[in-house]
Parts: sequence; structure tokens; C-alpha cells
Amino acid sequence: MERRVTAWTAVLVALAACAALPATTTANKISVNWMPNTNYTVWEQTHGPFYKGDWLVFYYTSGQADVVEVNESGYNRCDATNAIYNYSKGRSFAFELNETKTYYFICSFGYCPGGMKLAIKSQKLPPPSPPPSGHDKSAALARAHAGVVLYAAVAALAALLRMV
Ligand SMILES: *[C@@H]1O[C@H](CO)[C@@H](O)[C@H](O)[C@H]1NC(C)=O
Ligand SMILES: *[C@@H]1O[C@H](CO)[C@@H](O)[C@H](O)[C@H]1NC(C)=O
Ligand SMILES: *[C@@H]1O[C@H](CO)[C@@H](O)[C@H](O)[C@H]1NC(C)=O
Ligand SMILES: *[C@@H]1O[C@H](CO)[C@@H](O)[C@H](O)[C@H]1NC(C)=O
Repeated sequence: MERRVTAWTAVLVALAACAALPATTTANKISVNWMPNTNYTVWEQTHGPFYKGDWLVFYYTSGQADVVEVNESGYNRCDATNAIYNYSKGRSFAFELNETKTYYFICSFGYCPGGMKLAIKSQKLPPPSPPPSGHDKSAALARAHAGVVLYAAVAALAALLRMV
């Protein structure tokens, strides 16, 4: 009886730990210091990969930059005329990569030809195992954590079943 109670407690603790995990481990916020004379092609290569559901948070100096979402030709030509969206209020702008595609952002204040243009490919989330390396250590850790907790729950359940 005593052992059965202990096993049940283990199951409950494991389940509680599962429930305590954030519902999604994928909502990464990626800060972009959006400023002139920065090559965002290089930036993209060193800050990726990027996944659907990630947020880009552009930080810029008020009145000295804007964030303009354009299509591929607008990006290639640094042309904001047919902007999909533009943002210039305040000092930051958060944008969710809510689709699996390449997003294009430029600054329309004249700094685009100098590199202030960002093409960012958002990918489908990789399967949870094995966790991705580098990009998102906390999410990888959370996924690993979830795996350990699940294993504990299964082991506890197995122990319980062996007793009955
Ligand atoms: C971008 O938008 C312009 C204007 O709407 C359009 O003419 C052009 O074909 C588009 N380019 C791409 C690559 O979609
Ligand atoms: C940004 O949007 C506003 C209003 O929607 C428009 O008046 C302005 O011309 C746009 N600027 C650029 C750079 O697309
Ligand atoms: C993604 O967000 C944009 C801008 O808010 C919206 O227009 C679009 O419908 C969204 N797409 C999906 C798949 O939710
Ligand atoms: C930015 O870096 C890329 C890759 O190294 C290079 O091809 C491109 O010409 C650079 N852009 C500018 C404006 O220097």
C-alpha cells in the first residue's frame, strides 16, 4: 500500500511538471538592432535559423529609420513604393513570422543600399527530437526537459502497473 501511494505520488508529480511547462516552447523573440551601415545579409546568416512562430523585434532610433515589409523585387531594388507594410512609430516594432516563407524588410530612409535590408526565411519547426543546436538553447532545453519528465511519468506508471 505504502509503495503504491509513493508510485501514484511520482505519477502526479511528473504530470504536474508536464503541465507546468509552457504550452509552446517555440515563441522565440529575436532582437534586431535595426541601424544603418549594418549588413543584414551577414546578420541573417549568423542569427538563424528562423522558424515559423518566431518574433522579430526591430529596435531603431526614433525618426531615423522605419521598417518596411516589401516583396522580393522591392528588396532587391531597395524600393518601398509597393510596401506590404511599414512601421516607424516609437522605437521598436515586433513582427511575427507567422508563415513559412521568406520575408523581406528594408529601411526607406536611404540606408537600404548600404545593407539595411533583411531577407529572412522562416522554416517549418523541426521535429522535437533531436533538438536543434545553437539557435534556441532554451527551447531545446525545454524540449529535453519535457522528454525527461515524460520518461519519469512512464517509468512511474510502469512501476505502478507491476505492483497491481
Ligand atoms: C512585387 O510587387 C510589385 C508591385 O505590386 C510587382 O510588380 C512585382 O512583380 C512583385 N515582385 C515579386 C517578386 O513578387
Ligand atoms: C507607410 O504607410 C503610410 C500609410 O499607410 C503611407 O502614407 C506611407 O507612404 C508609407 N511609407 C512607405 C515608405 O511605404
Ligand atoms: C500573418 O500575419 C499577417 C499580418 O498580421 C496577416 O495578414 C496574415 O493573415 C497572417 N497569416 C497567417 C497564416 O496567420
Ligand atoms: C553584405 O554581405 C554580403 C555577403 O557577404 C555581400 O554579398 C553583400 O554585397 C554585402 N552588402 C553590402 C551592402 O555591403
